[in-house]
Amino acid sequence: KKIAAFRETLLTWYDQNKRDLPWRRDHEPYHVLVSETMLQQTQVQTVIPYYEAFLTQFPTVQALADAPQAQVMKAWEGLGYYSRARHLQEAAQQVVRDYAGVFPTTAVELQTLQGIGPYTAGAIASIAFNEVAPAIDGNAFRVFARLFCIEDDIAKPQTRAVFDRVIRRVIDPARPGDFNQAIMDLGSTYMRASDPDAEHSPVAAFDASFQSGRVLDFPVKTKK
Ligand code: ADE
Repeated sequence: KKIAAFRETLLTWYDQNKRDLPWRRDHEPYHVLVSETMLQQTQVQTVIPYYEAFLTQFPTVQALADAPQAQVMKAWEGLGYYSRARHLQEAAQQVVRDYAGVFPTTAVELQTLQGIGPYTAGAIASIAFNEVAPAIDGNAFRVFARLFCIEDDIAKPQTRAVFDRVIRRVIDPARPGDFNQAIMDLGSTYMRASDPDAEHSPVAAFDASFQSGRVLDFPVKTKK
């Protein structure tokens, strides 16, 4: 019952306040793959023009698969972490070669593609295919650690499974993609890492760390 109220509150806030971002115009799996790959290590405002230009140049998974590698690397120039671009093209080639150009639809299968880890697979499966799949990046770790006062150390590899279980229980099965993106928006606004504003958060009533005055104690992260 509490979970139902949380979903309702979060998604109502998202519907009224979501950022108007180019990758929220449609749910094409190829588009989600490109945007989420760019967003993993690069800020939203930087990604926007690169995302638009990349899709103009490589409008389909087939076009990306067929492009000369140098052209893909050139389109990535300025974004950094260039292995992302190489892997992205390899993933496109796998989709064309192994799946006849049609993206696999589950997070489990998506992770067989080059460069697609649990986060990107969860993002594509939830946003493009409505699968109840968590998309756990640094922001999601922080938001859920705060909401539930999860004490597990996010620097430890085993901790992902703890968050995965919690999020699977909480995620809205009717709107998993919007739910995950609402968490991202919370993580960049009221529940950001530094100078958060938990007091004015739409989900303040559900935020255990705020309710106990311990917002900045979460997430727990030891140095490796
Ligand atoms: N950061 C990572 N993925 C995002 C998304 N889909 N929207 C906004 N910020 C993000």
